[in-house]
Amino acid sequence: MINLKPLKIAGVGYCIPETVITNDDLTKLYETSDEWIYSRTGIKERRVVSGNETAIDLGFKAATQALEKSKIKPEDVDCIISAASVPPQLYPTLSCTLQAKLGIPKGVPAFDLTAACTGLIYALQVARGFIGSGIYKNILIVASDNNSKITDWNDRGTSILFGDGAGAMVVTESTDGVDDILSINISADGSIGQLIYTDMPGQNCPLVKPADSVGDGKIRMNGKEVYKFAVTTVPKYVEECISKSGMTSDEIDYLIPHQANQRIIEAIQQRLKYSDEKVISNIKYYGNTSAASIPIALVEGVEQGKIKLGSTAILCGFGAGMTWGAAVVRLREGIC
Ligand code: COA
Repeated sequence: MINLKPLKIAGVGYCIPETVITNDDLTKLYETSDEWIYSRTGIKERRVVSGNETAIDLGFKAATQALEKSKIKPEDVDCIISAASVPPQLYPTLSCTLQAKLGIPKGVPAFDLTAACTGLIYALQVARGFIGSGIYKNILIVASDNNSKITDWNDRGTSILFGDGAGAMVVTESTDGVDDILSINISADGSIGQLIYTDMPGQNCPLVKPADSVGDGKIRMNGKEVYKFAVTTVPKYVEECISKSGMTSDEIDYLIPHQANQRIIEAIQQRLKYSDEKVISNIKYYGNTSAASIPIALVEGVEQGKIKLGSTAILCGFGAGMTWGAAVVRLREGIC
């Protein structure tokens, strides 16, 4: 066993765009109904960027809030990781753009990590490795995606689900010896990768034999199989992560899951035998905001009095790849 330095979750922030698209609005695009969508997903509305607003603007606001809460100044950040699957530009990466916008010094490493909706948990595990080994001390994690830009708005099987939003977390070396990560695990299974995919839009080089098809850059999904994957894999995985933490599920205060589908959230809740008060869900208002959904649910949960800080939580996510992950964490006072 490697002895890692303890990690502190020092600040968390979020940002959601103003523009609301309700289920009724979607009936203008195709045949559907609020009842159909809500009963199958728990979603009533979602937020999307509009005009020139992008995931950079949302990520900037979420990161600024997380930095303020952490009391870490931009000049003291020594690594930036963006959990970005749908950034506005493939490069420069979202993390590089945010480095300049936030006034984080030149030279500080900045990179994007793509693990779709599990991105936040993946980034937390990577940050834990860096901090635990002493390579970096103050890491900014930003999860911000422009899902609405790659959604096929003619496809009623996918466009009902996704929304835009951003979340951010500042993690630092813990100076009081207390580790805020009680257990964490990340996983992937590329053999079922085609359950959710987005082909890069592209073209053929005019000098070579063309490929049979070029990507259209839109989200494609086998919803039924993704649903089955999630309800069979995630609840068991969450239980294993809790057991690794040395705690029992009763001792953990909250479940803050990735917000993909209310029925998937309920499957995890039932497995843990949690009352509704212990489960944080805001999918009704935001839909699936990919890797941003966990920090959004956390901070909003605190703002709405559903989460009391000075507590513990199990975070869990899953998404394209397929990827999945979970972490039992300590939520200190003042982090959001
Ligand atoms: N409104 C009305 N009807 C719709 C519809 C909509 N928005 N979307 C699909 N339908 C129709 C289909 O065309 C199909 O009709 P048919 O039987 O005549 O062919 C029928 O409803 C059933 O479609 P299906 O795709 O099998 O529905 P479902 O019960 O699996 O529900 C999802 C679809 C997307 C809600 C569900 O599969 C799901 O939530 N999966 C998980 C997806 C997810 O979480 N992805 C992100 C992971 S990070």
